[in-house]
Order: sequence, then C-alpha cells, then structure tokens
Amino acid sequence: MTPSAADPDAAALIAARPALRMHVRDGLLLEDAPLAAIAAQHGTPTWVYGAGTLRARARLLTQAFPGIAVHYALKANDHLAVLAVLRCESLGADIVSAGEMMRAVKAGFPAARTVFSGVGKTRQDLERALASRLGQINVESAEELQLVSDVGRAEGVRVPVALRVNPDVDAGTHDKISTGRKGDKFGIPLQDIPSLYEHAARLPGIDLRGLAVHIGSQVLALAPYRAAYGKLAALVRALRAQGLGVHTVDCGGGLAVPYRNETVPLPEAWAATITNAFAGLDLALSIEPGRWIAAPAGILLTRVIRTRRHGMVRPLHIVDAAMNDLARPAMYGAWHGVVPVSPIALQAAPEAADMAGPVCESGDFLAHDRLIPPLEDDSLVAILDVGAYGAVMSSSYNARPAAAQVMVDAGTAALIRPRQAVEDLWRTELVPNRGS
Ligand code: LLP
Repeated sequence: MTPSAADPDAAALIAARPALRMHVRDGLLLEDAPLAAIAAQHGTPTWVYGAGTLRARARLLTQAFPGIAVHYALKANDHLAVLAVLRCESLGADIVSAGEMMRAVKAGFPAARTVFSGVGKTRQDLERALASRLGQINVESAEELQLVSDVGRAEGVRVPVALRVNPDVDAGTHDKISTGRKGDKFGIPLQDIPSLYEHAARLPGIDLRGLAVHIGSQVLALAPYRAAYGKLAALVRALRAQGLGVHTVDCGGGLAVPYRNETVPLPEAWAATITNAFAGLDLALSIEPGRWIAAPAGILLTRVIRTRRHGMVRPLHIVDAAMNDLARPAMYGAWHGVVPVSPIALQAAPEAADMAGPVCESGDFLAHDRLIPPLEDDSLVAILDVGAYGAVMSSSYNARPAAAQVMVDAGTAALIRPRQAVEDLWRTELVPNRGS
C-alpha cells in the first residue's frame, strides 16, 4: 500500500482500460455512457457495469481455451443482468451454494454445464443439485463423499463427482484468498486421494468423473498453476495405473487482473500451462474463472461529501461509498484505481491524498496515500475494476442501504437494481411484544 511515484496516474489508468474514455465535455465514459449522467439520474454510490466488456472478456477466454470448457464462477458477480450477458456467451457455471444454483438456473445456464464446489454442502443442497441434474459435484472431503453417495442412492441415481484435490501449492496471493495450501480448508490432501478415489469408485451413488483443483484467486504467476497441474497429472497417471477411470480435470479459476500496474499472465499462457500439463492424457478439461471476466467490467461511482484538510497528514476525501459497499480495500488491503469523472480534474496536478467512506471504522478506506487529482465537494469519482467481488460482498453495516446498480450496453444505461430504501433494511425485522 506504499505510495509510489510508479503508480499509474488517472490518465494512465484510463488509457489501460478499453472500457473507459475521458470525453472533453461529458467527462468519464464507461463504454461510451457518461458517468456524470448516470450519477445525475440514479444518485451515488452506484455500481456501473459494461455489458460489452463482459461479453468481450468472455469471448477472449473461450477463444484462448479451445476445447476447454469455461465455467463462470458466479460468486464474482451474480447479478441476473450480468448472468444474462454471460449465458449468451455459452459459458457454463461454477457455483458454491444453493442460492447460486438457483441464480444459475434462473439465468438459464445449462444444468449439465454447472459445477458445484464448496466445503459446506448440506444434504438439502445436494438434493436440490440432483433435482436440477447438475453436471458435476466437486467433493471436498471424505465426509462429503459419503453424504453425496447416500443422497444419490436414496434418489436412485449415480451423482457425477470430481474429487477436489488440495495440492499443497502456495498460489503466492493474498493469504485470505489462498486455497491450495496444506491447512487451507479446501480440498482433499493429495496423499489421501488414491485411497479415497478407489473407495469412491465403488460407492453406489457416485459416478466418479475425475479431479478438481483451485489454488486461489488473483494468481499473478503461472508457476503455482504449473506446480499444481503437474501434481494432478501425476495423480491421473497413478490412478489410471491402479485401474481407475479418470475422465475430467477441473483446473479451477484464479487468473489475476491488473488493478494497479501488475504484470499478469495472458489467458493464452494459462491455457498453454493447462494443455502442456495434461498433454496426452485425453481428459475433458475445464476452468472456472470469475474475476478475470467480471472485474474490469465494473466501476463504483461515488461522490465526495467533503475533504478534510485541517489537522490531517494528507487531504482526506470522504466519499459516499464505503467498506460496506466495496469491502476489498478494508478486507485485503486491495488497491483500486481512483479516477475523477470531471475532465477538468484530469488537467490539474495530482496531490497525495486518502479516500475513505463514512463508516465508523478506521479500516473503512478506499484509497490510501494516492496521487489523486484535486477534488472538490460533490466531485464524482469512479473506483475501478470492481465488477468482481464488489456488490456481491456488500453489507448494510451502519444501516447503509445497498447501492444502485446500472448496466451500460451499446452506450445506453439501464437501471438493473434500484437503490435499496432505508425502510427495506428493517422490513423483515420482528420486535417481540414484551408486554410493556
Ligand atoms: N473456483 C473456486 C472453487 C473458487 O473458490 C473461486 C474463488 C473461483 C473458482 C473463482 O476465482 P477467480 O477466478 O474469481 O479468482 N473475495 C475475494 C476473492 C475470493 C475468491 C473465492 N473463490 C476478492 O475480492 O479478492
């Protein structure tokens, strides 16, 4: 989080993002839609997503992965309007809860191309998955395997299952989004797989399809992928040598996006890592990316309430978006670009400043010690790359209603979720009558 002269300035942030453009009169445009007009019509804070970016990125991925199935990880952004765009790009779905399953079904993702991961699936979740005829359950423990088999047997079906392997590989990403190290709660330890796989192959309610792995999110290098896939390929060979059938490998998600100016692997390079690792094994391969598709498609539009200068180390812009809207900076120390919407602000020399929301926590900040063009009260600001793990992670902390959501498509903006009314926060709350 240290300030750096090497940080991209607002102009460079815009230049690096095809969806953004600064118009001399209309100010910052997302896919040709003026953000100032969206703020005037719908208020702030407001999430704005570009349908064109979602489509383009889905296409780039499917083109980079010929012959490999792409399952979109709904957790990144599960708004039905986002799903409607992605479903048309012939992606499958990766889900982790019954709620996501219902969203995927509602959005029209084919059940046969939906994969259900997650460490805490309940009997009810599994029954629903069977009723929906989901394509694959990624089983994360020996205990879950037994339950899946029991549920399958009770329903008289064999459930298509992959065992999720914990390969003990450090993805080199933030601690809280690493999932493939020994001791992480995800997956079955590699050394337990051969015996469990053999056991699973004999269970009556299981149709054992293969293996799955997901080492973490915002993975910036290919080496951890290579290490994990190498271990899985060896495992496939060992299992086959035991006479066991392995038909599929789900290679997980996690491909990073550049939030600041990080060098990230290209999808083609990730694809090559996968095809090289599993070359000659005749497997049905799949991936489950979320962030790479959705993050660059969204911005959070917010307005400066006031700037505190007196008695501060640096100017502090207090804006109307906060950690309850965008949790990533508070939760992971994440860096998101901050760009003024006004074309005039871009001309002025930037100053080192902080940006925080109104929530009563010191951790509620959106940008720390950044070179930001000077802002005034009521200035509009776009916080970049929040299309993934943005609105889906928001809460109503400090009795703050959910922000509005807007989708831009071919230059036209449509409201896709109105701002939540404050009254909606307590609409379902019940106060017991204590007789006083
Ligand atoms: N598959 C599995 C089993 C996962 O757990 C995840 C993400 C994905 C796929 C998709 O990963 P992606 O391609 O989006 O990196 N809230 C955090 C990210 C949590 C990721 C959880 N699992 C953040 O804001 O950085």
